[in-house]
Amino acid sequence: MSGWVAASAPAKVILVGEHFVVKGSRAIAASIGLRVRVKVRPLNSWPARILSLPLNAEARLNREGYLKGSEVFKQVPVILSELRKRGFDLEPFEAFIESEIPPAAGLGSSAATSAALALALTALHGDPLGPEELSKVTYQAEKVVHGKPSGIDNTIVTFGGGVIYRRGEEPLRVDIKLPPGTSLVIAHTGKGRITGEIVALVLENAEALWPAAYLLYEASDKLVDIVLDALSRRDAHLLGRAFNLAHGMVSALGASTIEIDVLVHKARLAGALGAKLTGAGGGGCIIALAEDSKLDRVVEELRLHSPWVRSVEIGVEGAVVEEGKA
Ligand code: PMV
Repeated sequence: MSGWVAASAPAKVILVGEHFVVKGSRAIAASIGLRVRVKVRPLNSWPARILSLPLNAEARLNREGYLKGSEVFKQVPVILSELRKRGFDLEPFEAFIESEIPPAAGLGSSAATSAALALALTALHGDPLGPEELSKVTYQAEKVVHGKPSGIDNTIVTFGGGVIYRRGEEPLRVDIKLPPGTSLVIAHTGKGRITGEIVALVLENAEALWPAAYLLYEASDKLVDIVLDALSRRDAHLLGRAFNLAHGMVSALGASTIEIDVLVHKARLAGALGAKLTGAGGGGCIIALAEDSKLDRVVEELRLHSPWVRSVEIGVEGAVVEEGKA
């Protein structure tokens, strides 16, 4: 299809540290091999048109950035204005969004969509944004979607790889690869959740129990070092144990649910080395670490209890222009 330019960006998972990161402990997140792909082409006149196949949603945008149509595109005017601030004289366009990432599941689908759209539009203009600026544009878009984003998602989806994150500090980028002979499995509870509500519940529990709960925050921060050590020594058993401890700690503060716990325990019973919720909890997804010899069993078992199960690579490349694939 001539005239089309496409860009894609990956989803992310938090490996350890969710919730504890809210009060200053570190978290580690990694990109995963599920992507959003956005293709764009020029139109002769405004309004611009944007269509999301996975969300079955459509909107139009006039030159001034006024959006008419689905609310799911509410970050798009901000993306256009951020690109204009950077000197892009944007022409009218048509954009199609395709995605392998379930929305509202804590996998960074909104950040990946914003990054892929901004990259595709700037590539159409002949001057694709580099990851530093793309991350900043995506952060501004995430503010519209999430209010106070931590900075994890925009960093991961643009740069790819892994990130060690502490609130108030620049995210530290790291290469992340699973120990050889293992895979990461993601399973969705099928339930959405509102991140802010789970964050508030966990904080309330932590504050009520603070002299004891404080130690969990310290422990979670130390777990980040253990996970980095396990990854660098390629110690799958240690990484699995770290997942299990992380799950126990966030569950103790109220982030888990029966549906999440069923998936976590089914994964472990099927032979996973470790399993935990990822992201806010309250619904959303779990991740499980499985040796390749147990992978099929873990995936099959999870499929009995989850509407959506995927085995994914981690630490994949960030947002890219997909040359010649549009
Ligand atoms: O579910 P997600 O990916 O939006 O992650 C939320 C992570 C929390 O630590 C629970 C909240 C936060 O702002 O860091």
